[in-house]
Amino acid sequence: MSDNRRDFLKKGTLLGLSGLASALLGKDKIDKLEEMSYQLENTPAFALPKLPYAYDALEPYFDKQTMEIHYTKHHQAYVNKLNETPSTNIDYMSSDEVKCTHIDKYTSSVIRNNLGGHVNHSLFWTLLKPNPKGDANLPTGKIAEAITKDFKSFEEFKKEFTEKATKIFGSGWCWLVVQDGKLKIMTTANQDNPLMKLPLDNEDIFAPKKIPVLALDIWEHAYYLKYQNKRADYINNWWNIVNWETADKLFTTK
Ligand SMILES: [Fe+2]
Repeated sequence: MSDNRRDFLKKGTLLGLSGLASALLGKDKIDKLEEMSYQLENTPAFALPKLPYAYDALEPYFDKQTMEIHYTKHHQAYVNKLNETPSTNIDYMSSDEVKCTHIDKYTSSVIRNNLGGHVNHSLFWTLLKPNPKGDANLPTGKIAEAITKDFKSFEEFKKEFTEKATKIFGSGWCWLVVQDGKLKIMTTANQDNPLMKLPLDNEDIFAPKKIPVLALDIWEHAYYLKYQNKRADYINNWWNIVNWETADKLFTTK
């Protein structure tokens, strides 16, 4: 059969099916289905999550300008790069967290860096909350009990977390994770996160997953405008706006 004839038959069959579908469902429903299908095809795979507060809501600890640039330029850039770099290895239907656990499948560092950037910032925003009056900000709920159990006291935990975050060489993140019911502090370089297989990670492949319950961005873009080179001041101010309610939810639903 010639290609022209095959094409003609194929188009004829599709037209016939389309006519049958119209007759069964009605033209309005078919138009609506086609519109939904078009929107689905043209919706980017990754999108910037809505920020749960205004850019100036975290003042005086995080300034408005830094928050706006951090969210609309840095986080947006990770999202844009991901959408511009389609990969046949990404399971687009899985959650972003699941994508991270399979990060070693992606040979491209572009995917690793930008997926990490997107996932880490999406979590980071939810772990911050306004504190305009400067109220004491201490953990509550089950996570408070676990911190006392695993670090002796909140003050000991705060000291250790602050030290590890301050000492990160270059850019990275400091995390509180829960693994097999125990809280641990860990750091990652660049945009890596605890869900990923990390370059120096010798852990058994069957080891329980490390679930992040607290995240602190230690990239200069997070603090340089307000704090310049004074990373320790940025970290000390961050403790005032940690959203412990979100951290507790992450801990209890791990
Ligand atoms: Fe950042």
